[in-house]
Amino acid sequence: MGKRIMPRAALCAVIVAVVPALSACGGVKDPQADVVAGKQLFVKKCGACHTLSRAGTKGTTGPDLDEAFQQSIKEGFGTTAVRGVIYKQILYPNRLPNDKGIKMPAKLVSGQDAHDVAAYVASVSSRTGKDTGRLATAVQAAGGGTATEKDGVLSIAADPNGQLAFAAAKASGTAGPVTIEMPNKSGIQHDIVIDGLGRGEVVSSGTSSFKASLDAGKSYTYYCSVPGHRQAGMQGTLTVK
Ligand code: HEC
Repeated sequence: MGKRIMPRAALCAVIVAVVPALSACGGVKDPQADVVAGKQLFVKKCGACHTLSRAGTKGTTGPDLDEAFQQSIKEGFGTTAVRGVIYKQILYPNRLPNDKGIKMPAKLVSGQDAHDVAAYVASVSSRTGKDTGRLATAVQAAGGGTATEKDGVLSIAADPNGQLAFAAAKASGTAGPVTIEMPNKSGIQHDIVIDGLGRGEVVSSGTSSFKASLDAGKSYTYYCSVPGHRQAGMQGTLTVK
């Protein structure tokens, strides 16, 4: 990895913090923020591209947001300065595409939502440990429970909260023909694939599905083939009776 340089906006944020009258850099004020809402929005709108350990997100398209501010925090940048950088990045991600050719979309959240997300990320970036209190339960963990085939259809939803996971990491089917479907309400691109059996289309809303025939007594792995998603944990095991 190359040397990471603090974005220029960071310097502005620091100047603003030290000399509040100086707002040449856009003067990010810090209104009250709801970090619980900020966490939920971060997981839904940002987590598919960014890793942030306290939020439990594992996206790899954009930079790791625990690492991104580690050096700056070590050098004494406070939470307010970091929050200002994140806020500006959300509204004006005026940076070049990364080495995968991907640019961060602007204004995925705006208004108070952007303040909430920036405040949450700044408060947890590069912090070890776990979120506590209301933050701990802000986003329900995905993957619990078992999806069961019904009337020839096995429906395994994508996590609707934006986590790179299926709502159920276990599924059970019966031998013979089946339609495997993945309803996706997350707004994030996903598909459902079983090697050797079939693959559904990539959808960001709607349903990905394919028809297959299951063998008795076998178990299969279903996963999302969008780059980085399976590695982040978007897979599960289908057991056939
Ligand atoms: C489609 C993927 C994608 C989404 C969604 C996304 N980002 Fe990004 N983000 C990127 C990429 C790519 C970069 C890196 C640009 C670069 O390094 O030049 C980036 C950079 C950043 C940075 C700068 C990190 C650094 O190293 O300085 C921050 C902060 C950030 N994003 C926060 C967010 C927040 C908050 C959200 C949600 C509102 C979000 N991102 C949503 C792809 C994404």
